[in-house]
Amino acid sequence: MYSKNIIIIGTQWGDEGKGKIVDMLTDHVQGVVRFQGGNNAGHTLVIDGHKTVLRLLPSGVLRDNVHCFIGNGVVVSPSALVNEITDLEKNGVSVSDRLHLSQSCSVILPYHVALDQTRENSRNSKAIGTTGRGIGPAYEDKVARRGIRVVDLLHPERLAERLQKVAHHHNFMLEHYYQVETIPYEAVLEELLHSADILKPMVADVSAILSELNQKNANLLFEGAQGTYLDVDHGTYPFVTSSNTTAGAASAGSGFGPLNFNHVLGITKTYVTRVGAGPFPTELKDALGAYIATKGHEFGSVTGRPRRCGWFDAVMMRRSAQLNSLTGLCMTKLDVLDELKTLRICTGYKHRGETLTIFPADTEILCECQPIYEDHPGWQTSTFGIQTYEDLPKNARAYLERISELVEVPISIVSTGPGREDTIIISHPFG
Ligand code: IMP
Repeated sequence: MYSKNIIIIGTQWGDEGKGKIVDMLTDHVQGVVRFQGGNNAGHTLVIDGHKTVLRLLPSGVLRDNVHCFIGNGVVVSPSALVNEITDLEKNGVSVSDRLHLSQSCSVILPYHVALDQTRENSRNSKAIGTTGRGIGPAYEDKVARRGIRVVDLLHPERLAERLQKVAHHHNFMLEHYYQVETIPYEAVLEELLHSADILKPMVADVSAILSELNQKNANLLFEGAQGTYLDVDHGTYPFVTSSNTTAGAASAGSGFGPLNFNHVLGITKTYVTRVGAGPFPTELKDALGAYIATKGHEFGSVTGRPRRCGWFDAVMMRRSAQLNSLTGLCMTKLDVLDELKTLRICTGYKHRGETLTIFPADTEILCECQPIYEDHPGWQTSTFGIQTYEDLPKNARAYLERISELVEVPISIVSTGPGREDTIIISHPFG
């Protein structure tokens, strides 16, 4: 018997429904690991009709016996993490005895939040549409080697000394460049020390624990946040987040060796959505787009913003399959398309008279691309809650099978509703 270590990744622009699938698969694992992003993520879980939105904690947290890890690649707001833990514990979910927070995580400070929001405001119509959680500025500090790390929170003198320098740096920018209010260092220090007291017992060497679990043949699940095209290198730059969201980040962002992974499951919506600005070739800017948004409850789980909706794009998905070494697809929200008469799949782009079948790496070119579609008849009957592949209407199966053929990745799971039970398992990733 050997262990299985699986990466779950969003293959589009995020919000593909990863939370539900991670939660569902965690009954087969001993540990769930977050490895990038921060509290810009919003993973929605619906269990017994009760909705929970997790931002920083891995989606495995709602199962009592699963260990949860926040890897070094995550940027952590200590106060947001404390609030999330407190909220769950108030609702009877024990967290502090199962959460392992990497000592090497970079910390999000109030300066980062202020800078993120101030910059977005100053960009006016050119704004990226960030979540305003300070993600970008926190990663900037990490790469600039001036950031505060979780381990620093355990050493008050070291923390005070480092924080003073960071505070000085950012307050200078806030005051003199953006001409907004500064944030007093003393108040930030006090808040950090308060959070540190609560988080201290959870701080750990995550890489060492994961390696030990692996040697004991534990199954581990690595939970990506955001989606492939929000990746800072491979996404639609600059309309991206500030971390690597692709599968390769699972290793670097947790300290778990790359040869330990067995499977990469790509969570993929049966249509496409995007929050915030940036190119989106198959976007539906009409009544149909609005219909899909309403039927699919396409509103950001963190910011409440409406999501842009469009047709399934096989061109972007083919690149996603390559970037992430996808070994299986999990198709989500099939039921949202139930009433449509005709469905379209984008199979190529027209760009200045030429046909492109490879997703352009240059965002400027992508902005000029026009989708080439093939049409498929809808099924116009409910698929909500169906649990067996054969019970799906013939046209729904044909639609899914065409997607799998175009993307060249087999479909492992189909999600037909928000609940754990609204799922068709074709081949179980841990089977
Ligand atoms: P940031 O991560 O807050 O810096 O935002 C950068 C871009 O990523 C914006 O377009 C956000 O809307 C998008 N983004 C960040 N987190 C998520 C997410 O969890 N789902 C979908 N989009 C996200």
